Amino acid sequence: METAFRAFRVHRDEEGFTSGVETLSISDLPEGDVTVEVHYSSVNYKDGLASIPNGKVVSSYPLVPGIDLAGIVLSSRNTKFKAGDSVLGTGYGLGVSHCGGYAEIARMPAEWLVPLPEGLTLQESMAIGTAGFTAALSVERLLHNGLEPADGPVLVTGATGGVGSMAVNILGKLGFEVVASTGKPEAEEALRRWGASSVVSREAAMGAVKGTLGKAQWSAVVDPVGGAGTGEIMKAVKYGGSVALSGLTGGGAFQTSVFPFILRGVNLLGIDSVYCPMPERVKLWQRLAAAWKPEQVLREAIKVYRLEQLEEAFGTVLSGKALGRQLVSLQSR
Ligand SMILES: NC(=O)c1ccc[n+]([C@@H]2O[C@H](COP(=O)([O-])OP(=O)(O)OC[C@H]3O[C@@H](n4cnc5c(N)ncnc54)[C@H](OP(=O)(O)O)[C@@H]3O)[C@@H](O)[C@H]2O)c1
Repeated sequence: METAFRAFRVHRDEEGFTSGVETLSISDLPEGDVTVEVHYSSVNYKDGLASIPNGKVVSSYPLVPGIDLAGIVLSSRNTKFKAGDSVLGTGYGLGVSHCGGYAEIARMPAEWLVPLPEGLTLQESMAIGTAGFTAALSVERLLHNGLEPADGPVLVTGATGGVGSMAVNILGKLGFEVVASTGKPEAEEALRRWGASSVVSREAAMGAVKGTLGKAQWSAVVDPVGGAGTGEIMKAVKYGGSVALSGLTGGGAFQTSVFPFILRGVNLLGIDSVYCPMPERVKLWQRLAAAWKPEQVLREAIKVYRLEQLEEAFGTVLSGKALGRQLVSLQSR
């Protein structure tokens, strides 16, 4: 008899959109050469979108959402992995076009999996998850573009969220002066503990700036918020500085002019974690397990949910109330 396991699934059919915890068997999962006993997943903004009817991220139903997963290999037809290996997976088709992490068992191509780096537990790897990986990718791109601590303040938007909190922690560890922009003034002390030198309101950092250029303040920006504020931030980036843009919690469009680019040489860097090539993925995960490990956020800002509590976690991320990272434990009932 096939092993039965629990999963949170979303359906969309002639009866409409439904979601909930179900019992599945292996044959309900998509093909893949590695089968993983999932120990942890996480709740990202994109997972919140997958849980609602018009989130526009799920490309085929029924689907197990969860863009992140970490666990132990049960079986593998690929020599890259063997039973008993600890692995993590983020992005690719997980949780959008291929069943993802909100199940006790998952099956996927070996090419999507990263060996769990030494220095991280399975739980820590998912507390970091896509959000922390995206923060690391943003920082890596900024460093590659020549950013150094001596260049001056780095702005992080959406600083209490998953990407933002991890970016604050990583940049703080690397010796940068981090200015955290948040819509949650009550989180100021926490943000300072995580690595921020100062905290500003969303309006102060992302509000309308008169004219085509404003006061040059930021040597760089990690921006997972996007929307109209991104266009305003561009006006305040110092000569030669860069904006690493990864998200859209603030909206999907912004206006800008040519002036930040042609008068200040500002760079707009697009950040995509989903299809980040495997060699860079492995390198960044190794950093996240060592010198870039966001210990303060891992210690203080992690909330663990069970499958049955997922709806509550989705509500938190979709309403912008997330503080740090939401984890899902698959092996606790
Ligand atoms: N490009 C990629 O590969 C990639 C990877 C991961 C995530 N993302 C995207 O990055 C964004 C953030 O993801 P996340 O996982 O960090 O989400 P999250 O944990 O929900 O954090 C989002 C944060 O944005 C701020 N925020 C929320 N609503 C806002 C609004 N209307 N205007 C301005 N700020 C708002 C809040 O922080 P404050 O209250 O502190 O301001 C919130 O905590 C999402 O759009 C996600 O899809 C992209």
